[in-house]
Amino acid sequence: MDKLPLEMAEQSYNKLTSITLNHLESLVGKDFISVDKEQFEKYGRDETEDLVFFPDVVVKPQTVEQISKILKHCNEQKIPVTTRGAGTGLSGGALPIKGGVLLSMEKFNKILSIDTRNLQATVEPGVINYIFQEEVKKLGLFYPPDPASWGSCSLGGNIAHSSGGPKAVKYGTTRDYVLNLEVVLPSGEIIWTGANTLKYSTGYNLTHLFVGSEGTLGVVTKIVFKLIPLPKFDMLMLVPFNSAEKACEAVGEVFKAGITPSAMEFMERDAINWSIKYAGEVNFAIKPEWEALLLVEVDGNNMDVLYSDCEIISNIMQQHECDEILFADTADQKASLWKIRRKVGEAVKSNSVYKEEDTVVMRAELPKLLRGVKDIGKKYGFSSVCYGHAGDGNLHVNIIKGELSDEVWNNALPKGITEIFELCKSLGGTISGEHGIGLVQQKYMSIIFPPHQLQLMRDIKKVFDPNSILNPGKIFG
Ligand code: LAC
Ligand code: ZN
Repeated sequence: MDKLPLEMAEQSYNKLTSITLNHLESLVGKDFISVDKEQFEKYGRDETEDLVFFPDVVVKPQTVEQISKILKHCNEQKIPVTTRGAGTGLSGGALPIKGGVLLSMEKFNKILSIDTRNLQATVEPGVINYIFQEEVKKLGLFYPPDPASWGSCSLGGNIAHSSGGPKAVKYGTTRDYVLNLEVVLPSGEIIWTGANTLKYSTGYNLTHLFVGSEGTLGVVTKIVFKLIPLPKFDMLMLVPFNSAEKACEAVGEVFKAGITPSAMEFMERDAINWSIKYAGEVNFAIKPEWEALLLVEVDGNNMDVLYSDCEIISNIMQQHECDEILFADTADQKASLWKIRRKVGEAVKSNSVYKEEDTVVMRAELPKLLRGVKDIGKKYGFSSVCYGHAGDGNLHVNIIKGELSDEVWNNALPKGITEIFELCKSLGGTISGEHGIGLVQQKYMSIIFPPHQLQLMRDIKKVFDPNSILNPGKIFG
């Protein structure tokens, strides 16, 4: 058999000319195009470490027709186009690493319709997640995917990575709510990927191919989301443990007992301590002997069921030697606990140079993952702060630079990360649960996929984007 080509041929791109700049300006209008260095500072970053790459121009289209013409032109001229939502990504997915056009979707910020007869909504991709959640809530409806950055992340960015969040454990990730997408292809053609139906068995499911494709196949311009009825009640408890591994062991037992919490979040003590320092007070003291905490929420329409679920959960937690459980009594208390949890990522970032990994394994293997991460850290000399969506087996591992030398950071660390990812694979998992591959995880893709499978993905990319203009240098390099 012929040897498969392992790399896509290195694509060469053309420089942006004044002809292209004038053309883009005539398409979007002079108020929606910028070559200003200050704008490049802002649009050249996301929330991934301290990475920054300048585009050659920032363009803010307002209509799908404009996007169609922009892509057609850039495709003909072989100019890179990187689509950007709100820039809250954690894998470098929106960074314009090859320069060219930065296509900001911020003007696509309208909720076009909420259909209460069919329980679905049509939105533009620049809508902020939280704003959408609040709007559907007013109608008694629920859009569950709730990444930690929900106050600032865009729904289009959520599509790019199939973002999750605490509620994914019961309700699924973005993927589970996308019914149909309007997409502009690099050729300029505009397609709908599927149908607005709850079932779909009509050829390849292009909708689900686009979800998680990180802007490498087309530009999403409209999204049809499925909605569900809003649960009436919820209860929230914070469960401290002197052993982090015991906390992880308790997680699986809750599901085995027949309960699916609407959130099951894990935080190591440092994660919660740093977050409290960063984001505000709580009305309880973190005891020094606590190694980790679980934040557990149940929701539904019947309070009696929720009380009974909480009792069963409490018993399981006690069997795993938890300390005294704190129940959030008021809406304020719930909000402050959730704020602390949601701010952990930012808090870690403000504390030290770091690298964040988005490990995910089969849920019951979580204790082995946590132990493995700590052992690998000892072997290579790095410490880590772990937190995340324990109910999904999704552990965010923040590796802290602290006092580590650049030598260890640059040379030993990638070996340690490789071992962590190999461990994930051996535990039935993978290298990202919800942050995506983007720029920073692509060197580890070969841990998960054999060469012919990576080539298959590259071949799919080629069918959609033969000149590789869309978000070049992402997922596969
Ligand atoms: C969180 C983000 C980092 O769970 O995914 O806080
Ligand atoms: Zn997360």
